Amino acid sequence: MKEQVLSGGHSNTVVRVGETVHRLPGPWTPAVHELLSTLHRAGVHEVPEPLGFDDQGREVLSFMTGDVGNYPLPDWLWEPQILQDAGELLRRVHDASVPLVGQDLTWSSPSREPIEVICHNDVAPYNMTLVDGHAASLFDFDTASPGPRIWDLAYLAYRLAPLAEDAKVEKTTDWRLAVLTRIVVDVGEASGVELELSSSSTDSHGGLSCPTVMPGWRLPAG
Ligand SMILES: Nc1ncnc2c1ncn2[C@@H]1O[C@H](COP(=O)(O)OP(=O)(O)O)[C@@H](O)[C@H]1O
Ligand SMILES: [Mg+2]
Repeated sequence: MKEQVLSGGHSNTVVRVGETVHRLPGPWTPAVHELLSTLHRAGVHEVPEPLGFDDQGREVLSFMTGDVGNYPLPDWLWEPQILQDAGELLRRVHDASVPLVGQDLTWSSPSREPIEVICHNDVAPYNMTLVDGHAASLFDFDTASPGPRIWDLAYLAYRLAPLAEDAKVEKTTDWRLAVLTRIVVDVGEASGVELELSSSSTDSHGGLSCPTVMPGWRLPAG
């Protein structure tokens, strides 16, 4: 079957073959497949399904339908619905990843304390598909590793509040930050899982691009 190169990524060579994508693997790929399988078993189907390896040794994943949130970013990316979807999906991915915490798995990125979940570590529109005004899936788990929930939430806020310099939209940041955070907390309350977002864990963001965001960020009370 014909291979179609998928552009827009930052590090991997990715091709589409029918309803699958084929990507170069790394030592972390078994851990990523374990994570994706764990998410699917828990009912999180908005992430690629791991389908093994092809005859060239590339990993095979299910193709996620939709438009990827690549640059130039579409205007409707800033609709509140996208904040809602992305926040909910992040919360569900985090909750479903908990069984892998503490397992002896090889990840590509270092673990970060306090370890609560498996973080995606690059939650952004360019690693999501968008369908009919909704954020429909999250992919590219290559950089995943154990860490605190707030790490991913901070990066998602950086990209979607947005706080990134390249976002080129009017910044209604405080309101959007509060909404995003509220969604992530509320989804957990609805599922009976209490979320603890420790403001002290924000200190661990020093050194990455998202930390510049954190000093002015106050988590909503309650
Ligand atoms: N499972 C998938 N479903 C649909 N498209 C995908 C999938 N995985 C990757 N892609 C496409 O391939 C591009 C690069 O893939 P990605 O996994 O993000 O690689 P990189 O590590 O280089 O960022 C993405 O921008 C997207 O268009
Ligand atoms: Mg990517």
